[in-house]
Amino acid sequence: MPQLSNALVTEFDPISSVSESYRALRTAIRYKKLMPTARGIIIMIASPKSQEGKTTTAANLAIAYAQEGKAVVLVDGNLRQPSLHDVFGVKNNKGLLQGLAKGMAQQDIVTASGIPGLELIVAGGQPVNPSELLGSVRMAELVAQLKQQYDVIILDSPSTLDYTDASLLTEYSDGVVLVAKNGKTKREWAKQARTQLEQSGARMLGIVFNQS
Ligand SMILES: Nc1ncnc2c1ncn2[C@@H]1O[C@H](COP(=O)(O)OP(=O)(O)OP(=O)(O)O)[C@@H](O)[C@H]1O
Ligand SMILES: [Mg+2]
Repeated sequence: MPQLSNALVTEFDPISSVSESYRALRTAIRYKKLMPTARGIIIMIASPKSQEGKTTTAANLAIAYAQEGKAVVLVDGNLRQPSLHDVFGVKNNKGLLQGLAKGMAQQDIVTASGIPGLELIVAGGQPVNPSELLGSVRMAELVAQLKQQYDVIILDSPSTLDYTDASLLTEYSDGVVLVAKNGKTKREWAKQARTQLEQSGARMLGIVFNQS
């Protein structure tokens, strides 16, 4: 059984106001009326810099969707500084990297999260060429498969301003949520990140202010 981390408040304390805020985010996205091209919608979670709460937001939003009865997969698209496996207390030896670099099948790179309705694709390691892998044809194929299999696909990402990876990931996303951390994220960074993501075709769903 995976050792879930305390960051997963939506699982451990669903009545709390913090959990309610993730449900509110879920509802806000619903009213954006995304029009997926297949069964599933793909929501990417981005932030201008590192350590602003992307993974925490991605994980709790994914749980909020699973609690609603959706079939959800949460993908660690942060091949620079992967952490999804830590948050869910699972191994990091097969995941996105093996799917992209070794061509492993989608069903073989999925890890159980310990939460009903939610599956994980962890990073599987730290490749030397993350941008090439995320921009590859194999990535497009994998995403297309996930869209057939799941209702909601959540993509975690690395810092938008430090790496090109987030811009690449927007290509696959139906919508992007930008996370900003109170007291850390500068307004200018958030603006720059938003502009950069929009220039690569992102549909911005809104900004989440992380209180920590
Ligand atoms: N709302 C919160 N309350 C308390 N701690 C938080 C909150 N959000 C994030 N943290 C903590 O802050 C740290 C950074 O959060 P997180 O890993 O979600 O950021 P990140 O943007 O994904 O970072 P990276 O850019 O390295 O991927 C973690 O230790 C996380 O547990
Ligand atoms: Mg992260």
